[in-house]
Order: sequence, then structure tokens, then C-alpha cells
Amino acid sequence: MPSMFTLLYILLILFSVRTTILEAAQANKSEIDRQALLCFKSGISSYPLGILDSWSDDSLNFCGWKGVTCRTKFPPRVASLNFNYARLSGKLSGCLGNLTFLSRMNLAYNNLSGTIPEELGMLPNLHTLNLAGSYLQGNIPISLGASNSLSYVYLANNTLTGGIPLSLTDCSSLSTLILSRNNLSGKIPSTLFDNSSKLAVVDLQKNSFTGLIPRFHKVTALKFLCLTENFLSGNIPPSIGNVSSLTSILLGQNKLSGLIPETIGHTTKLLELDLSFNSLSGSVPLSLYNMTSLKYFSVGTNALLGQIPSHIGYSLPNLHSLILGSNKLEGLIPASLANMLNLQILDLSNNSLHGSMPSLGSLANLRQLDLGRNLLEAHDWSFLTSLESCSQLTKLSLEGNALNGSLPIAVVNLSPTLEDLSLASNQISGSIPVEISNLVNLTSLRMESNFLSGNIPSTIGKLQYLYIISYQTTNYQVLSLPRLVTLLN
Ligand SMILES: *[C@@H]1O[C@H](CO)[C@@H](O)[C@H](O)[C@H]1NC(C)=O
Ligand SMILES: *[C@@H]1O[C@H](CO)[C@@H](O)[C@H](O)[C@H]1NC(C)=O
Ligand SMILES: *[C@@H]1O[C@H](CO)[C@@H](O)[C@H](O)[C@H]1NC(C)=O
Ligand SMILES: *[C@@H]1O[C@H](CO)[C@@H](O)[C@H](O)[C@H]1NC(C)=O
Ligand SMILES: *[C@@H]1O[C@H](CO)[C@@H](O)[C@H](O)[C@H]1NC(C)=O
Ligand SMILES: *[C@@H]1O[C@H](CO)[C@@H](O)[C@H](O)[C@H]1NC(C)=O
Ligand SMILES: *[C@@H]1O[C@H](CO)[C@@H](O)[C@H](O)[C@H]1NC(C)=O
Ligand SMILES: *[C@@H]1O[C@H](CO)[C@@H](O)[C@H](O)[C@H]1NC(C)=O
Ligand SMILES: *[C@@H]1O[C@H](CO)[C@@H](O)[C@H](O)[C@H]1NC(C)=O
Ligand SMILES: *[C@@H]1O[C@H](CO)[C@@H](O)[C@H](O)[C@H]1NC(C)=O
Ligand SMILES: *[C@@H]1O[C@H](CO)[C@@H](O)[C@H](O)[C@H]1NC(C)=O
Repeated sequence: MPSMFTLLYILLILFSVRTTILEAAQANKSEIDRQALLCFKSGISSYPLGILDSWSDDSLNFCGWKGVTCRTKFPPRVASLNFNYARLSGKLSGCLGNLTFLSRMNLAYNNLSGTIPEELGMLPNLHTLNLAGSYLQGNIPISLGASNSLSYVYLANNTLTGGIPLSLTDCSSLSTLILSRNNLSGKIPSTLFDNSSKLAVVDLQKNSFTGLIPRFHKVTALKFLCLTENFLSGNIPPSIGNVSSLTSILLGQNKLSGLIPETIGHTTKLLELDLSFNSLSGSVPLSLYNMTSLKYFSVGTNALLGQIPSHIGYSLPNLHSLILGSNKLEGLIPASLANMLNLQILDLSNNSLHGSMPSLGSLANLRQLDLGRNLLEAHDWSFLTSLESCSQLTKLSLEGNALNGSLPIAVVNLSPTLEDLSLASNQISGSIPVEISNLVNLTSLRMESNFLSGNIPSTIGKLQYLYIISYQTTNYQVLSLPRLVTLLN
């Protein structure tokens, strides 16, 4: 009969052997991570900041290596890699796929080349992938969306090609997809905006996407949508108006056509709407002029018809930019614009607006005012006098209208911040006042194609920043201006 002690002793030995084996096996899992990190390092050809110096085969404590963070639980496993702006050159190794517990990988703004390894799709715990700002090429890995913890994908500013993998579309945890400034092409997957309660940011700006904007169905968190500078065509889907979480709809510089859906006006949290540089037609739906929250509103350079509603200044009181230029708008410029006290940029140029211009002197923040290429008249020029109180004005263009009468002295009392002044192609008579030199910061002065008489006043020689001046004159004294590069007649 073995004694009680012997039994206990045997049990104790058995137990300790078991834990030793267990520890060995777990330590071995850590070793997988250590080997994967060393393998990643072998793909990096240079790191001039010495960031990978601590990464060595002699060092077992990989959790202390620069850029590596481990989880707190035993055994230690790599939880995050952080190397943004680290000047790493080289390629991403597929070994990274062995870092089973990797949750965050931030290698943004380096000099990485080659492709994104397909193995990254095998990381079951990957939450954040940031590889923006390198020279990565090839396709986005087909497997990428397989992880159901993937939330943040930031691959902007590389040279990626191919399309958006369907796995990303099906990834229900995805909240942020930033693929801007690559050369991705093909259609945006038709189900990208289908049934997602997490998707909040989609930025596909400056790629080569073609085809239609997919419909929106049960996307409840989408705030920021930017599809600017692609080759998207067809209509804007009316279902976009059902996405009440939207704060930015940026669809400019595409080939969109048809009517602007009236439903866009139902997105009551919208701050920015950019539909410029498309082929949209019909009139701007009245609901859009009713979005009180809006700060940036651009539908410029389309084929839009109709009038600007007279109440616009009351229904869009928070606008800082209103860009309706290069359309086919008619009617008067509403006097209520004077109520948009935050307005900085107003561009109504290149339309068929007529009548006189309203007083906008209340717009203390106005910086750029472009009413050129319309059918506007001057009447008593009180409009210009009112602009004397816009103390931030840098650009004023009234060119290509039907302004007549003699040029009022008010022009020289405009803010000295003014850099760009054009009154060209009107029927303005009189002469340019000598006090034009009050406008000390003028870089461009355009007065050609009017009925003005006399020479350019010699005081213009004081305008040291002037580099464009156009006026019918024989006074070449202005040629001595230090920066003048263009003299147009
Ligand atoms: C431990 O890891 C090495 C490779 O790092 C492997 O060759 C070995 O089979 C592993 N042993 C166990 C018990 O998992
Ligand atoms: C970037 O990487 C390429 C090769 O991958 C190399 O030729 C180039 O010198 C690197 N540039 C910098 C600034 O490190
Ligand atoms: C690590 O990844 C490489 C490349 O994907 C693979 O060949 C290797 O088997 C992996 N090693 C371990 C220990 O899983
Ligand atoms: C894109 O990345 C390159 C290389 O890192 C950098 O020089 C450039 O400033 C980046 N551009 C933008 C818009 O982020
Ligand atoms: C982008 O890809 C398209 C084809 O998909 C190609 O025609 C174009 O030249 C590429 N642009 C750049 C800048 O690489
Ligand atoms: C929507 O997504 C949820 C979770 O991802 C899924 O369970 C459900 O079946 C989907 N519904 C439809 C209509 O696709
Ligand atoms: C908007 O959502 C409602 C309710 O879910 C639905 O009945 C309607 O068809 C949707 N509108 C569009 C244009 O998709
Ligand atoms: C504008 O908003 C007001 C008040 O919210 C509402 O009564 C009116 O129907 C809206 N008009 C349009 C054209 O959407
Ligand atoms: C004026 O608008 C038309 C479209 O309505 C456009 O084709 C043309 O380029 C615009 N001109 C300028 C100078 O912007
Ligand atoms: C300016 O034009 C208007 C009509 O456009 C005309 O009634 C007025 O007489 C003109 N004034 C001068 C000074 O030519
Ligand atoms: C003229 O421009 C300069 C440089 O942009 C600026 O610092 C200065 O404040 C401007 N002067 C006026 C009167 O706006």
C-alpha cells in the first residue's frame, strides 16, 4: 500500500508535468507570433529611423519590441502593430497572417510596395487595417472582409487596382471604408449600401469606378458618403433620402444625369451636399432649399433650370458656401441672401439671372462673390456700395453682365483684402479712379471690353502683387510692375 504521502507526491508530479507541457505549448504559440514578426521584418528593406533595431532573433521578449503591443492575457500574443510615418520601405509579408490575435494594424504613410497579402483576410480578430499612403498595388484581397470583427479599413492614397471585394460588402461589422485616391475600377457592389447598421463612412473619392450608385436599403448609420471624382453614371437613387443619418453627400465630378431626387431634402442632418460637375437636369427640388442644417451646398456645373426661390436666405440660414454657377438658372437674385450671415462663398455665375443685384453688405464673412456671366444690370450701383462693408472680400467678379453707367468711386472703397476684381465685358463708362491703388492686395484686375476712357492711372504702379491686368490701353508704364506676367488687351 503506498502511503498517503507517496500518492500525493505522484499527483503533484503529474500535475506539474501537465502544467509544464501546457506552458510549453502556450509559449510555443507566442513563438509563432515572434517568428511572424521576424518574418515581417525580413520583408522590410529599409527603416532609416532604426525602428526595427530592437526586433532581433536573440530577443525573446517581442512584446517589448518597438511598434508591438501585446494583449494582457497569458500567453502573450501580438494585439497591435503601430508604424505610421515610420519610413519603412519594402513589402508586406504574408506571415502577418499568423498573428492570430492581431486586432489593430497601422502602417499608414510609409513607403511600402508590392501587394496586400491575401493572408490578412485570415486574421480572425482584425478590427483596424490602416495601410494608407504607400505605393501598394494590385487588388484588395478577396478574403479581407472574412473577419467578423473588421471595422475600419483605410487603404487611401495607394495605387490599388481592381474592384471592391464582395467580402467587404458582406462584412456586417464594417464601419469605415476609405479607399480614396487609388485607381480602383469596376462597379460599386450593388449590395454595399444594403442592410448595414454599422457602416458610417464610405470614401471612394478619386478612383475609376463606373456604373450606377447602388440603392440604399437599411443603412442606418451612414454619415459620410464621398464618391467624388469617379465615372459614375445614371440617376442618383431616390432611396438615398431614406438614410436619415447622412451628414455629407459628396457626388461631384461624375457623369450622373437625370433629376436630383426630391428625397435628398429629407435628410435633415445634412451639412454638406456636393452634386457639382455632373449632367443633372430639371430644376433643383424645393426640398433642397429647405435643409436648415446645410452649410455647404453645391450643384454648380450641371444643366439645372428654374429660379432661385425668394425665401432661400431664410430657409438656409447656416450656409457658408452656395454654389449654383454654370447652370441655366433664370429669374432674379433673391434679396433674402442678405440673411445668410455665415456666407463666405457665393457663386451664381454663368447662368441667365437678370435684374439688379441685391445689397449684400450684411454678409460680414463674404470672401468670394461671383455673379459673372449673367444678364444683371447696375441701376444705381448701390449694390457695389453695400459691398464696402464686406471686410473679408478677396474675389469679386461681375464680368459679362449688362452693367452700365460710369464706374462708381465705391469700387476703390472695397476691402483692401480684395485680390481678384473683374468688371470686364459690361457697358461701363467713365475712367478708372486713381484711388484704385487703395486695393493694395490686387493680383488680378480685369476691366477690358467696356466703354471706359483714359489710361490706367499711374498709381497702379503701387500695386506690387498685381500680375494680371487687362484693359484697353496704350499706357505701357504698367509693364514695370514687379510681378506683372500678363497684359491682356
Ligand atoms: C513549436 O514551434 C515550432 C516552430 O516555431 C514547431 O516546429 C514545433 O512543432 C512546435 N511545437 C509544438 C509542441 O507545438
Ligand atoms: C521607397 O522604396 C523604393 C523601393 O521599394 C526605393 O527604391 C526608394 O528608395 C524608397 N524611398 C524612400 C524615400 O525610402
Ligand atoms: C506563417 O506564415 C507563413 C506564410 O503564410 C506560413 O508558411 C507558415 O507556415 C506560418 N507559420 C506558422 C507557424 O503558422
Ligand atoms: C499620399 O502619399 C504620399 C506618399 O506617402 C504622400 O507624399 C502624399 O502627401 C499623400 N497624399 C495625400 C493626399 O494624402
Ligand atoms: C486607372 O485604371 C484605368 C483602367 O482601369 C486605366 O485606363 C488608367 O490609365 C489608370 N490610371 C492611372 C493613373 O493609373
Ligand atoms: C441583414 O443583416 C443581418 C445581420 O447581418 C442578417 O441577419 C439578416 O438576414 C440580413 N437581412 C437581409 C434582408 O439581408
Ligand atoms: C424609404 O423607406 C420606406 C420605409 O422603409 C420605404 O417604404 C420606401 O420605399 C423607401 N423609399 C425609397 C425611395 O427607397
Ligand atoms: C419646408 O419645410 C417646412 C417646415 O419644415 C415644411 O412645412 C415644407 O413643406 C417644406 N417644403 C418643402 C418643399 O419641402
Ligand atoms: C458656363 O456653363 C456652361 C454649362 O451651362 C459650361 O459648359 C461652360 O463651360 C461654363 N463656362 C464657364 C466659363 O464656366
Ligand atoms: C443702363 O441700362 C438701362 C437698361 O438696361 C437703361 O434704362 C439706362 O438708361 C442705361 N443707363 C445708362 C447710363 O446708359
Ligand atoms: C494682403 O495680403 C497679405 C498676404 O496674403 C496679408 O498678409 C495682408 O494681411 C493682406 N492685406 C490686407 C490689407 O488684407
